[in-house]
Amino acid sequence: MSGSALPLEIVDLRTTLFTRRGEMKAVDGLSLTVAAGETVALVGESGCGKSLSALSIMRLLPDPPARIVGGQVKLNGRDIVPLPEEAMLGIRGKEIGMIFQDPLSSLNPVATVEKQIVEVLMTHTELGRGQARVRAHELLELVGMPDAARRLDAYPHQLSGGMCQRVIIAMAIACSPSVLIADEPTTALD
Ligand SMILES: Nc1ncnc2c1ncn2[C@@H]1O[C@H](COP(=O)(O)OP(=O)(O)OP(=O)(O)O)[C@@H](O)[C@H]1O
Ligand SMILES: [Mg+2]
Repeated sequence: MSGSALPLEIVDLRTTLFTRRGEMKAVDGLSLTVAAGETVALVGESGCGKSLSALSIMRLLPDPPARIVGGQVKLNGRDIVPLPEEAMLGIRGKEIGMIFQDPLSSLNPVATVEKQIVEVLMTHTELGRGQARVRAHELLELVGMPDAARRLDAYPHQLSGGMCQRVIIAMAIACSPSVLIADEPTTALD
């Protein structure tokens, strides 16, 4: 966690899919660094492993079949690959955020927009509920949500795809993580 450490340094990351039909190296020796303020883009054909790379970094792989079999993911200087899940709960959303390729399935269908953003803020910051609500409103305006004040009380099914994606982006940036992973974050935006 030293101040000089890179936000993200990936060294020889390997993720393998263990299926009945054999093993497939989905991520095969990925290395990259992201400096503070830098944007790094991964480009490649469909199925080449972009999403599995992102999910590996977040430690959110579908296991089975996918498992990290080697390499390091250093977040602010600390390798998170060996960390237990409990430690990851305190890191996701706070040190590293992710905007998923399919935003509609990553929102909670039975909670209002406000509740979902407030929950992120109250989990990872010192803000009280009242302050978190004010911040939730600010974040929605920041991501360009039309009629933000009214949308706070909406449930995901009452929003368009693009609006849901804006909520996801608001949640991902809520705690100003040092690393933000965006997996095709604009597919649902007009
Ligand atoms: N849960 C899974 N079970 C089995 N195979 C999977 C699973 N998820 C991904 N794969 C396979 O792993 C490979 C990489 O998939 P991934 O989703 O990372 O691709 P991608 O580069 O993000 O593609 P796209 O541009 O279409 O989003 C693909 O061949 C895919 O079929
Ligand atoms: Mg993908």
